[in-house]
Amino acid sequence: MTTDQSDVRIGVVGCGGFGLYALQQYVQVPGVSVVAMAGTAREASIAAAKRYGIPDVEAVDSLLAREDVDLVYIATPPFLHHEQAIRALRAGKHVVCEKPLAMTVEQADEMIAEARRADRLLTANLMQRYNPAYDAVAKLIAGKVLGEPIHGFFENYASDENLGPKHWFWDRAKSGGIFVEHGVHFFDLFAGWLGEGRVVSAQRGLRPGASPPIEEQVQCAVRYADDVLVNFYHGFHQPGRMDRQELRIVFERGDVTLYGWIPTVVKVHAVADEAQTKALCDLFPGARLDCTASYAPKDRACEARHKPLDVYQTLELTWGEGVVKSHRYGELLRAVMADQVAWIRDRSHRRKITESNGRDSLALACEADRLALASA
Ligand SMILES: NC(=O)c1ccc[n+]([C@@H]2O[C@H](COP(=O)([O-])OP(=O)(O)OC[C@H]3O[C@@H](n4cnc5c(N)ncnc54)[C@H](O)[C@@H]3O)[C@@H](O)[C@H]2O)c1
Repeated sequence: MTTDQSDVRIGVVGCGGFGLYALQQYVQVPGVSVVAMAGTAREASIAAAKRYGIPDVEAVDSLLAREDVDLVYIATPPFLHHEQAIRALRAGKHVVCEKPLAMTVEQADEMIAEARRADRLLTANLMQRYNPAYDAVAKLIAGKVLGEPIHGFFENYASDENLGPKHWFWDRAKSGGIFVEHGVHFFDLFAGWLGEGRVVSAQRGLRPGASPPIEEQVQCAVRYADDVLVNFYHGFHQPGRMDRQELRIVFERGDVTLYGWIPTVVKVHAVADEAQTKALCDLFPGARLDCTASYAPKDRACEARHKPLDVYQTLELTWGEGVVKSHRYGELLRAVMADQVAWIRDRSHRRKITESNGRDSLALACEADRLALASA
């Protein structure tokens, strides 16, 4: 088992659409190589295996029994994560599991206990936190550059073009439903920014006339500390070319909006004095700063929330134009693996996400799902 500087050798379980996509990123991480693939015999995975110099895809059991696999990357549908991760951990492997970590919090707790017992890595691939936009927004909040946060939303009008009626995604017994399968990314992101939240209401919408039922949209409201309220909406009903996502946090003196489900472009719209303008430019280096209105000394005073404000200008700041989404996606996946592998090599390394992110985001998703079902 690798703890020195030799490669961390990955075995992949589940070589479908995303598994193969992620694998291409993981093998680019220094000190990581792929040695085995299991879980499907379809043409694309056999072709990919050849590309990585792997003679053939194999059965999951035989992959888990291999001495030369240090880390198992699990990219199967969600209902398989718990069982496969437990088996991999018991076989002495580190585990990076696709999100969601599991289908229930009880399963997640069992996996975490097993990882601790075996002293192995366990992480759900919640790669959104590795986005430079995540760090910039975290600093914006911590530094109170726009004042206190008040409200947020995430709106996710996603494509279902590649999710045919028989796809496991629509089968709640396999996916856990939209909050669990997909929402966990954004519960984790907002938890990083705003701390622990509590789901206060949730609903779901079924596609008219679909049999068996298709849950195609869900929404919930989460209350964070100091009564910051955030609305989450996820719908899978758009043609691919109309797929669009927006995430916004509104503060006392402005708002920040992230565009794309892998956010690339960030826009800040704010009233600011000179120092706040500088702080924003420092947080978003290289951003374009447009002045929408500037104020003469006699016009600087305004107020919000019954607090006086001194305002030099109204501005729009745009950051990240020209970043290619798929390139950023790859960057995030490489960053997750590099961070996790650093912990395998050195247990004092502090990871950006741990097994707790997988568990806590799942807990919120399960609660949102429970409330949505109860309100149906
Ligand atoms: N982190 C992200 O950004 C992201 C993006 C997309 C998907 N995902 C996650 O990746 C996972 C897989 O999604 P996908 O879109 O690649 O699905 P997919 O259906 O394209 O691939 C699933 C793969 O698992 C294999 N499989 C099914 N049953 C198996 C079994 N019993 N043992 C071994 N392999 C088995 C299938 O043959 C297939 O190759 C899901 O958990 C999904 O949520 C994550």
